[in-house]
Amino acid sequence: MKVNDAKYELTAVKPEQYPQKNIPEIAFVGRSNVGKSSIINALINRKNLARTGSAPGKTREINFYNIDDKLYFVDLPGYGYASVSKTEKSTWGKMIETYLSTRSQLKMIIMLVDIRHTPSKDDIQMYQWLENSKIHCVIAAVKVDKIPRSQVITKLKDIRETLKLNSNVNIIPFSSETKQGKEDLWGSVDFLAEEEQGDNP
Ligand code: GTP
Ligand code: MG
Repeated sequence: MKVNDAKYELTAVKPEQYPQKNIPEIAFVGRSNVGKSSIINALINRKNLARTGSAPGKTREINFYNIDDKLYFVDLPGYGYASVSKTEKSTWGKMIETYLSTRSQLKMIIMLVDIRHTPSKDDIQMYQWLENSKIHCVIAAVKVDKIPRSQVITKLKDIRETLKLNSNVNIIPFSSETKQGKEDLWGSVDFLAEEEQGDNP
């Protein structure tokens, strides 16, 4: 998809605040600080449309970005961020869970994991939830610019094994710095968008 006009639409903390339009949504999930907001910017060629930060916990609400009125990219808060209070963690957890489990427009989830690290317990739990939910999912193994090329295949294998990825789930090495993987990831998004159009002629 060639993006002409991507814009921030709204911020929500509860379902009544989600957009009213019935267009497909693609959500980005992953640990705090893994690079969810950065990957959105990279995909739409914008430096700072989605706000990013070096301190974990930058995104604290659900932000909807309107892509040409055809799709929403949904930027969620991260999980597994140790330094927030228990109350805040549980509020975020509920916010993410409510969105993921109730939103009928949600057609695809891009789950981010840091290619440098073995997926955490939270990542494993997240993937298991995704698999049960039957929502189409793709794994982006991000920050690939931070490891030598020679390590990429081994790391991808470790992620696939640790998450026990279903063999039909794609894992795409990605870098928001170098934009490696961008075409591949857009390929998966386009595939979904076409399928959706097929469903609603
Ligand atoms: P929360 O909103 O806290 O959940 O974080 P997030 O997942 O949205 O992460 P964010 O996009 O804010 O990025 C966190 C930090 O990682 C920032 O300092 C980014 O510049 C950096 N970062 C993100 N993606 C990449 C990448 O592909 N390569 C490198 N080198 N740094 C990255
Ligand atoms: Mg963020």
